[in-house]
Amino acid sequence: MFTLNNNIFKEFPNIETNRLTLRSLNLTDAETIFEMRTNDRISEFIPRHKLQKIEDAISLIKKTNNLFQSKQGIGWAGFTKEGNHLIGTCGFNKIDFENFRAEIGGEMSVSYWGRNYAKEAVEAIIDFGFKKLKLNSIEARVSPENRSVIYLLKKLGFTKEAHFRQYVYFNNDFLDLAIFTLHNEKET
Ligand SMILES: CC(C)(COP(=O)(O)OP(=O)(O)OC[C@H]1O[C@@H](n2cnc3c(N)ncnc32)[C@H](O)[C@@H]1OP(=O)(O)O)[C@@H](O)C(=O)NCCC(=O)NCCS
Repeated sequence: MFTLNNNIFKEFPNIETNRLTLRSLNLTDAETIFEMRTNDRISEFIPRHKLQKIEDAISLIKKTNNLFQSKQGIGWAGFTKEGNHLIGTCGFNKIDFENFRAEIGGEMSVSYWGRNYAKEAVEAIIDFGFKKLKLNSIEARVSPENRSVIYLLKKLGFTKEAHFRQYVYFNNDFLDLAIFTLHNEKET
């Protein structure tokens, strides 16, 4: 009999990695979130509209924190231990309790790309998902053209399980969507 570990929702699960502290977002993080969510390079392969005003970032932070309060997801913000800079967000956007599966997603400020920070954060979140939350599988929904995230997912052991053609309607266009999955095989 499998059970997901609901206890993790009692208190926000901060995570420490070598170079990062992953914790919940604060309203004071709105400016950095706004910068990230209006950046052309970050948005290039993500079918969602950019934020329009700082209030949108505040709403997004509240929405992310509500996901945790309502046990639907967990959104972490990654801060460098050196300097305490917010460099990105990552988390489980959706947790499918019935199937022990969660969807992972995130983004990072462009000035921190290419330094293995994303790998460090995502590795820690996967470890949390399998060992603490007791997930069986983690999926990432990505544009098949999003090379950076696909490299990262493959490095972490994800394999491509699906490619849906013209699956997402965005900006007057039908876009393909790929699903990459990692299973908790180390535990069995
Ligand atoms: C996805 C994202 C966080 C990855 O950031 P990153 O800085 O490239 O990640 P890392 O530095 O941790 O790199 C991870 C690995 O992928 C490799 N990699 C990343 N992009 C690559 C590329 N274009 N070509 C070759 N390798 C690449 C890195 O070299 C590294 O491998 P290594 O351990 O062998 O050095 C960043 O590109 C981003 O914010 N993109 C926009 C948002 C987005 O698309 N999010 C995903 C939505 S699900």
